[in-house]
Amino acid sequence: MSQSDQTLGAHLAQYPELAEHAQSWRHAFEPRALNDRVILVTGAGDGLGAATAKTYASFGATVILLGRTRSKLEAINDWISANTDTQPVIVPCDLETLDTETANNLALSIGEAFGKLDGIVHHASRLGPRAPLAHYAFDEWQRVMQTNVNATFLLNHTLFNLLDTSARASVVHTSSSVGRVGRAYWGAYAASKFALEGLSQVLADETETAGRIKVFSVNPGGTRTNMRKEAYPLEDPGTLPIPEAHMELFLLLQQPIRENGDPGELVTGQQIDCRNWHDNLQWM
Ligand SMILES: NC(=O)c1ccc[n+]([C@@H]2O[C@H](COP(=O)([O-])OP(=O)(O)OC[C@H]3O[C@@H](n4cnc5c(N)ncnc54)[C@H](OP(=O)(O)O)[C@@H]3O)[C@@H](O)[C@H]2O)c1
Repeated sequence: MSQSDQTLGAHLAQYPELAEHAQSWRHAFEPRALNDRVILVTGAGDGLGAATAKTYASFGATVILLGRTRSKLEAINDWISANTDTQPVIVPCDLETLDTETANNLALSIGEAFGKLDGIVHHASRLGPRAPLAHYAFDEWQRVMQTNVNATFLLNHTLFNLLDTSARASVVHTSSSVGRVGRAYWGAYAASKFALEGLSQVLADETETAGRIKVFSVNPGGTRTNMRKEAYPLEDPGTLPIPEAHMELFLLLQQPIRENGDPGELVTGQQIDCRNWHDNLQWM
């Protein structure tokens, strides 16, 4: 084990699930790599969102925890306060009913508290029913689209000026395999993830020239979370990676992007597949 591995291991001692994966990371991160960054994580109460928030805070970021269930946000808030030297903010918010007034108030509060926003990671998502389109209830369709697409657009739209104030902001849309190739019975969830891919590409193209905001879509692939359990109730969760397995990538998505010639470079507008990304890294 190298000196930097030992330093990282000590730094992450309070977060053993992450420390275990960090041993095989190909990129070195300083313990304060995300110092001074303010990052909004949606769906922060559980699964990938909770792991992302805890990881970013462990590397010095101030995280804004947005989610539906207050008690879950408070548990993540308590963990971060106890185990890192950062102080998060919680924003209980049901994205299914997010409107312009609530989004504007959020932007005002972030502006007053921090004066900028360095990143948004859009993890919050509604799975909806698994049913053929011919039998898919329209109200369910609308609920999925409102949560997964409309709320994502509204947050990006309302928080854009704060992102544009950052020297280098990052917007990450969490997608899915069925948002890249449609599959039977995935209904509105699949369509919503295709829409997110489009949103991601349009925003990346609109911000590329100015170069201050980088935009990505990330497909985590099968990961051990509640949503996966809901989609595949008979699957053995033990066969799946835990959310922390993806955190090297999620850290890189918040790092300054190195210019041409670096094989690990992440380019704005990129569609990233966690599993391929990780496998490709093995070759470097
Ligand atoms: N896990 C996988 O295998 C997998 C694969 C491909 C893509 N993904 C994507 O990964 C992302 C994270 O999902 P996950 O697997 O970590 O699922 P998860 O553990 O179920 O977490 C989803 C989070 O989204 C929140 N959420 C749902 N509806 C919301 C709403 N209306 N307003 C605010 N928050 C809401 C949930 O809040 P509550 O806790 O209050 O319900 C929960 O914290 C999603 O975008 C998902 O589509 C996951």
